[in-house]
Amino acid sequence: MGAGISIDDIYSLVSPKAKLLDSSGMLIHALSMPKYLSESIVRYKEDVSKLTLPDPSTFDGVVISGMGGSFISGLFLQDLASDRSSKAIILNRDVRLPRFIDEKKLLVAVSYSGNTEETLRIYLEGLRRNIPVVAVTSGGELAAVSEKLGKPVIRLPPGIPPRAAFPHLTAAIAALTSSVLGLDLLGELRRAIDELAKREDSVLSDGLALSRLLFSDVQNNLTPLIYGYSPYLSPAYRFKTQINENSKIHAFFGELPEANHNEIMGWNGVLKSFTVVFVRGREEPKYMEARIEFLENLFDKNNIRFYNLHGNCETRACELLSLIMKADVASIALALLLGVDPTPVDTITQLKKFLDSKIGFSLHREIN
Ligand code: PA5
Repeated sequence: MGAGISIDDIYSLVSPKAKLLDSSGMLIHALSMPKYLSESIVRYKEDVSKLTLPDPSTFDGVVISGMGGSFISGLFLQDLASDRSSKAIILNRDVRLPRFIDEKKLLVAVSYSGNTEETLRIYLEGLRRNIPVVAVTSGGELAAVSEKLGKPVIRLPPGIPPRAAFPHLTAAIAALTSSVLGLDLLGELRRAIDELAKREDSVLSDGLALSRLLFSDVQNNLTPLIYGYSPYLSPAYRFKTQINENSKIHAFFGELPEANHNEIMGWNGVLKSFTVVFVRGREEPKYMEARIEFLENLFDKNNIRFYNLHGNCETRACELLSLIMKADVASIALALLLGVDPTPVDTITQLKKFLDSKIGFSLHREIN
């Protein structure tokens, strides 16, 4: 990473104890994203070519279903492709599959662990409705049942926190959906990686600078509020979720322009202990620039702290990747500054155990 800067030097830029705190090297994962993405593009292109799938022209859209760390890559692909493909890109984060989803859609069921109840239920629903379904997973029930039924599976490498598997998940989903969407998504990602390589240093410096600003604000009891807009929703939403899981603090996400029609009234009231980050890209239209300018003026008047996070690339794919890397670095460095190990997500694990004991959903049992 970076011209001549070692990972030890990077940790010491964060804080003297940062390296010790980062138990599974989350910062290294984040900074290695282009390398993992590059390797995954080759791997999943080949893996997908070996699957037996219906002719892509028979589909009128794709449905990408997943939760948390297994959701974000779908949002990334929607940002990247939805205004350029005539086919629908539908995202699902529920246990229910809308009725209109039929056999003309390719259903991609994404669960890094392969044991997330919501995604297993969607997979089951897909099977019951005869919707062509592909599992993307590192194992669990999802892999076991798919293999037992002879259904297509893309296998992810095991042992990674799901949110750190972003490059693997993204390449796998892009490889599966490109031909349906009629776009060369893998080619775009490959070119974006080359473009990103020239901007490594700014990814690191922007991410670290933002972590320090947020650290100071969080110490003053301000809660991060991230604003984003299409086609840069995935980095904005990713930033919120990465602050939640890595830094273990509340953070919220607002979507523009919609937030200007309701949430904006909150700045008049008593509950405004927020620090705001606008996630912005080169394709920002004039109408969005004007809306953000209004908010910036409002924040200045109300002494609300705000920052702008820019991608600084030429292409949309590079902008999205660069913004995601900056957000990842900022959230991990924020965790380390707060004295928190970014990796464990104990409460999510406890919730899953609790649900298992209360509900005990089993895909194996359902298909028998
Ligand atoms: O980052 C995490 O651990 C979570 O957001 C998980 O991704 C989420 O709980 C879903 O689990 P999985 O990705 O294994 O389906």
